[in-house]
Amino acid sequence: MSTAELMETVQPGVDDQAEAALLKVEGLTRVYGDRIGCADVSFSVWPGEVLAIVGESGSGKTTLLNCISSRLTPTCGTVHYRSGDGVSSDIFKMSEANRRRLMRTDWGFVHQNPIDGLRMTVSAGANVGERLMAVGDRHYGNIRQTAIEWLGRVEIDADRIDDQPRAFSGGMRQRLQIARNLVTGPRLVFMDEPTGGLDVSVQARLLDLLRGLVSDLGLAVIVVTHDLAVARLLSDRMIVMKQGRVIEAGLTDRLLDDPRAPYTQLLVSSILQV
Ligand SMILES: Nc1ncnc2c1ncn2[C@@H]1O[C@H](COP(=O)(O)OP(=O)(O)O)[C@@H](O)[C@H]1O
Ligand SMILES: [Mg+2]
Repeated sequence: MSTAELMETVQPGVDDQAEAALLKVEGLTRVYGDRIGCADVSFSVWPGEVLAIVGESGSGKTTLLNCISSRLTPTCGTVHYRSGDGVSSDIFKMSEANRRRLMRTDWGFVHQNPIDGLRMTVSAGANVGERLMAVGDRHYGNIRQTAIEWLGRVEIDADRIDDQPRAFSGGMRQRLQIARNLVTGPRLVFMDEPTGGLDVSVQARLLDLLRGLVSDLGLAVIVVTHDLAVARLLSDRMIVMKQGRVIEAGLTDRLLDDPRAPYTQLLVSSILQV
């Protein structure tokens, strides 16, 4: 299916809505030497929408997520982000300072491994407070109070506030990483396999928590997962990748009920068996 056809099936009237898209990705390609990371990927994300990027290991999900969150430079293609003032800009044409500000304020990034998204040798409270300070909050009492509230929202007891995350379990670390990301009220959060390294029971609880937070806060999320069950629980819309390319895209309910590409049919039948 061509990119134009995909856009047509996923986003009828996309031109009318282009103004409102929060993130607009066009023709994004990233190669590693002669190996394809991702190729000619185009999609948009609207405010408050959860988009899942699914596909087997090596299909290009992480490459795509890292490019659209500006952590990796694409070989070609553009990513436009519309900020709160309504102005849409190409994130790769921004100054480094503006891009860093965006990543600290409007955007969040939840890594699969919480060690990559936390500071392991400062307290849980400081991990949350640091993001607040980065957006200009200087009042110690307020910062600590907000940190306590956020620990509560991610089900970490307030009496753990002075503990370092290295004393936490995997599930707690991941919840702390989520609090650290959400405390500044981002408009768009990127997540790479957020439940990936956890036990099944811990995964289920985390997914529940994430689902509640995303809907309470009206967050837009782009979540990468190889697990269709995660996509089913969290996302409104999905794109399916294979060998770096988008092979199918659509509303999550439709796509899981009626997968069209043989590869998606295979993925869907594999979750129905478990
Ligand atoms: N740093 C890298 N150097 C070379 N090849 C890479 C690198 N990162 C990813 N790749 C290749 O790009 C393709 C997509 O990988 P990746 O984006 O990690 O997929 P996924 O997240 O879906 O598992 C794979 O063929 C992978 O081997
Ligand atoms: Mg990956």
